Amino acid sequence: MFNRRHFLNAVGGGVVGLAALGSTRILRAQSPASLNTLAIPPLLNGQPDNALRRYALTVRRGSSQFLPDRSTPTFGINGDYLGPTLRLSRGDAVAIRVSNQLGEATTMHWHGMHVPVTADGGPHQVIEDGDDWEARFTVLQRGATCWYHSHVLDRTGYQVYHGLSGLIIIDDEETRAESLPSEYGVDDIPLIIQDRTFNEDGSFRYIGMPMDVMAGMYGDAILVNGTLNPRFAPTRSRTRFRLLNGSNARVYTLAFSDRRPFQLIASDGGLLESPVTLTSLELAPAERVEILVDFSDGNATRLVSLPMAVDSPNNAVGMMGNMLAINQQAFDILSLEPAAGLRPAAPLPRQLARLETVSESDAQVQRRLVLSMTMGMMGGGRGPGGPGGANRGRGMMGGFQINGEAMDMAVINQRVTLGSTEIWTLVNDSMMMHPFHIHHGQFRILDRNGSPPALHERGYKDTVKVGPGETVRFIMRFENFSNASQPYMYHCHILEHEDNGMMGQFTVA
Ligand code: C2O
Ligand code: CU
Ligand code: CU
Repeated sequence: MFNRRHFLNAVGGGVVGLAALGSTRILRAQSPASLNTLAIPPLLNGQPDNALRRYALTVRRGSSQFLPDRSTPTFGINGDYLGPTLRLSRGDAVAIRVSNQLGEATTMHWHGMHVPVTADGGPHQVIEDGDDWEARFTVLQRGATCWYHSHVLDRTGYQVYHGLSGLIIIDDEETRAESLPSEYGVDDIPLIIQDRTFNEDGSFRYIGMPMDVMAGMYGDAILVNGTLNPRFAPTRSRTRFRLLNGSNARVYTLAFSDRRPFQLIASDGGLLESPVTLTSLELAPAERVEILVDFSDGNATRLVSLPMAVDSPNNAVGMMGNMLAINQQAFDILSLEPAAGLRPAAPLPRQLARLETVSESDAQVQRRLVLSMTMGMMGGGRGPGGPGGANRGRGMMGGFQINGEAMDMAVINQRVTLGSTEIWTLVNDSMMMHPFHIHHGQFRILDRNGSPPALHERGYKDTVKVGPGETVRFIMRFENFSNASQPYMYHCHILEHEDNGMMGQFTVA
């Protein structure tokens, strides 16, 4: 099925469903003649300044050449599209200055990072156009692959879609292990995977129809690190990829075209205890994984996305099932053509890290969060051009709520006691999967529908897929930073759902 070097549009009945909704989101054919060298985001190591390490980010507009014959107006950070990879070390005191030259208000959030709420960069830490904002914090958490992105109220989807995101790599003793490939851009390769759709004039098309809000914004072309039709030539027999699903809504079923196995070594919050061998893996928006891939046979392969497995709990159901038949497509993500004379790699480590064992009895508090969507097929959602704030969470198009409430900047939905350990039960009472994300820290999944999580979900996470009808419980410790008035966020990371109400606020004090 994957011998063909181009996207397959095998959707069957789904196409009809999509066509009925006016969808054009069928992935374009990728031609081998048009492969481009994968861009690697530049590294930003920061400038030492006494006890501090300083990083400077400028958010601005730019113009990018994704398509051969036309340019695309984009947003970028220290560049035209996306931003540099911030490299931090555990224990570092850092100051990240963000200058907003975008022409509109923005914010900058450090997704997956454990920071004081005033440095979090959520919807309350607005940076007006022309202003600067500085986030100061000490990196307390384990080594991990995190990311940063705009989190401005109601326009996160729009701003991230246009380019406001980048990767963060946190190093620590465990991630610096000799056995792990760690030469950035050489055998340690960041992959920010995004789908986009273009207008005739080359500009990005953001929200063109109701489905773009209900299902979230799917595109018909894949960009990796901002490169369309990318190719990469591994030079080491084992390469580490740090994958970020930087898409607004699309879920990828990652695999290799020749079905070669790969080792999962890290999830959102850092290294797993030991590598988990897989042949495919679903990655939802905002989730990150680190994998090791063996190229010692010298054969070319492709990182692809497979049709979502029929038995995946993340398939949409009911009416949404038809709409999200888009997930039944298979397509290429990255062409991999190993160079001649691969450098050998260290043997695969058996033990990667020591993780705390977590037990239910550690928790003092339990909370239950029900994720829901109400349906409607008419009108616009909230996003650009959509109705105003009064409609958030109850647009005619469908409302998005947590515990029946839509995001309200003036309402603190949960108050958590500093130092407590809590169990949050997430219940998905809708017809599609929602990747639930919480700020402030990392959690461990206790169970999914009453069963222990799969091996690849046993590490630290900050974003978890909750399929339709599923119940997921996680356990998390809320510590270090106290602030009774300013809230952190929790929300669905399908950005159109977040922007349309599926978000709540909590304080830790
Ligand atoms: Cu990735 Cu609240 O964000
Ligand atoms: Cu976050
Ligand atoms: Cu959602």
